[in-house]
Amino acid sequence: MTGSNFLWGVSTSAYQIEGASEADGRGQSIWDEFTALPGVVANGDTGAVACDHYNRWPEDIGLMEQLGIGAYRFSLSWPRLFPEGVGQPNERGAEFYDRLIDALLERGIDPWICLYHWDLPQALQDRGGWANRDVANWYADYARFVADRFGDRAKAFITFNEPSVFTLSGYGGGLHAPGVKESSAMLAAIHNVCRAHHAALPALRSTGVPTGIVGAFWPMRPERPEDEGGAMMMDMMFNWACPDAMVAGSYPPPMEMLLGDVIQAGDLPSVGTWTDFIGVNHYAPMYIRTNEAGEQEIGAPPADVPLTGMGWHIDPPAFTAMLQTVAERYPDVPLYVTENGIGLDEGDEPDALNDIARVQYLHDYLAALADARAAGVGVQGYFAWSLLDNFEWAEGFAKRFGLVRVEPDNLARRPKQSFFAYRDLIKGGIPKR
Ligand code: NOJ
Repeated sequence: MTGSNFLWGVSTSAYQIEGASEADGRGQSIWDEFTALPGVVANGDTGAVACDHYNRWPEDIGLMEQLGIGAYRFSLSWPRLFPEGVGQPNERGAEFYDRLIDALLERGIDPWICLYHWDLPQALQDRGGWANRDVANWYADYARFVADRFGDRAKAFITFNEPSVFTLSGYGGGLHAPGVKESSAMLAAIHNVCRAHHAALPALRSTGVPTGIVGAFWPMRPERPEDEGGAMMMDMMFNWACPDAMVAGSYPPPMEMLLGDVIQAGDLPSVGTWTDFIGVNHYAPMYIRTNEAGEQEIGAPPADVPLTGMGWHIDPPAFTAMLQTVAERYPDVPLYVTENGIGLDEGDEPDALNDIARVQYLHDYLAALADARAAGVGVQGYFAWSLLDNFEWAEGFAKRFGLVRVEPDNLARRPKQSFFAYRDLIKGGIPKR
């Protein structure tokens, strides 16, 4: 793990850190609209300012340099590049990413560029968003622009971050933007995202830049014995439906049945491996219960297990097992951990920077990753979530995931204990448990 061929990094996403939501011609995203609704985000927080990374990126790259990472995974804001989603690109938005990418390369940090981390242009949502079949073409045009503009400098492209989360939560549960609660829209969105991946792939791959996907992989466990079936259903829909369709061009059979005539002939390619790598985002096992209406809901972990500030079960062996499961399902595809970290309710002074729980989490989860490697899983890199405290979607800024604290009042950056712990892990390799 200390070898130079293991890639260490950090991950962020555009809406969660950039802020500057009106700057330089950026268009509105679905998260701008959604966060303006009352009661949908904790404390009424929005990403309008976030970490102001749009202006403070040189300082943030300086922090990455101090950490000693080899790669930085971030996302492009589609509405910054195409304020209307399609049509004329916004040159000033593109120049922001030019500056960022060039500065990363100057410091020897590989840019890992994700095209979609949940901030769809609102103009496209007004036309149905991911539920409209045309979105695959809109996305492919956007991807062609990204390939032409940044393909000479990107070290990896990622078509989608966690497709199951933004389709299930955004179109089914309504907890994320655009806040739709309609199972037909959700099923259409799932399938159109998978179509969009395939539609964008030729342009991205033609640059020679490895192009992959990032999935959310949460082991699904029944809350009660009678929830076994519900947990299996969630496992299929949440963990495997999109990756299967994106990697191999086919859904698990129960998913194909559920989608029914949402799928049209020729929508997905048949033979081949349609990704150059898989990014695993892993945080915790999820407990599932089936409610009285027969729907699956997120349930509660057992009473006696250790929890993060998000209420997620801290269970490093589940990480080892999940890496093994992903590797077995997609045996020939290179694997990276593209997100892992802990959300905490961190207090203010004097303990603001003393994030012992995050230091412990990092050590334990990296030891679990080492266990997976010892068991033969060829994980090639690890990206911590996240560099900075940032906008945690429906949780707003209340839950902190950063290695670096961002002061709420003046946005000053202050490295926490975990920042130095991660720097030392990168330097020295993984501690034994
Ligand atoms: C996964 C998502 O990709 C990221 O945006 C989010 O902040 C983390 N999980 C933590 O919930």
